[in-house]
Amino acid sequence: MPAPAVPPFDYLLLRETLGSFAPRFDVEHRQQCDSTNAQLLASPRAAGSVLVCDEQLAGRGRRGRRWVSAPGSSLTFSLLWRLPRGRSATGLSLAVGVGIVSALETLGIEGTGLKWPNDIWLKGRKLGGVLIEALPERSNPGLVIGIGLNLRSSPGWQTEIGRTPASLDETGPVPPRETVLAHLLKTLHVTLETFGLQGFDATQDIWNSHNALRGQQVLISQENTEWQAECGNVDSEGALTLHLPDGSSRHITAGDISLIPLEP
Ligand code: BTN
Repeated sequence: MPAPAVPPFDYLLLRETLGSFAPRFDVEHRQQCDSTNAQLLASPRAAGSVLVCDEQLAGRGRRGRRWVSAPGSSLTFSLLWRLPRGRSATGLSLAVGVGIVSALETLGIEGTGLKWPNDIWLKGRKLGGVLIEALPERSNPGLVIGIGLNLRSSPGWQTEIGRTPASLDETGPVPPRETVLAHLLKTLHVTLETFGLQGFDATQDIWNSHNALRGQQVLISQENTEWQAECGNVDSEGALTLHLPDGSSRHITAGDISLIPLEP
């Protein structure tokens, strides 16, 4: 069966839903591109520029993985942002995760959580992810904040990535993509402004209150090693505390690490 056609992008609906935030963003929609992150990195624009695309042919994920989605099944977009000079981006991707969960709450979508470092989680499965890449500028580089959020389940998923992700249609009727995007941008604007002033400190407690794996056994995969621990909370820098079987604790930072829950 052919995939259902993706409706034309409704800029008016986007602008109306953005309301007073509309002048802060310059949104471009494309039906297809390689990767919205790659596009903003290749031809940087002003802070507040957004590229949203119905189909990415080479969507990028963390740790060199791909972000796979059929046309229209995921909301995939990137936002260019600049932090105030001197503000480190440490913990920024976690703060963005908090912004996404808050935006979904404003849409009446409850029950989403956060899986360290920057996955959005629903019913024990991945609903979305964040990939932040910096422009090659020496000081105070512009940041490309890429977000992928599954709206509807897609037939090719399971075979392509080996496990079934979650999608928003499991929670009820899915609002138009323009509505979801506008809610995300409004909430992210507040989150990013707050992060610019106070860093991750301001969001640490909220992140921990949405920590989907707290108290669960997880497998940590780092370079060529794997080890097991109980998942704890994050500190003010966004590092995750893991409790080891011998009673000691370790703090891990986002780098090249993945966390696999061992329990549902
Ligand atoms: C991850 O979970 O590994 C991060 C996924 C990030 C995917 C988004 S989709 C929009 C933007 N463009 C990309 O190529 N990747 C990010």
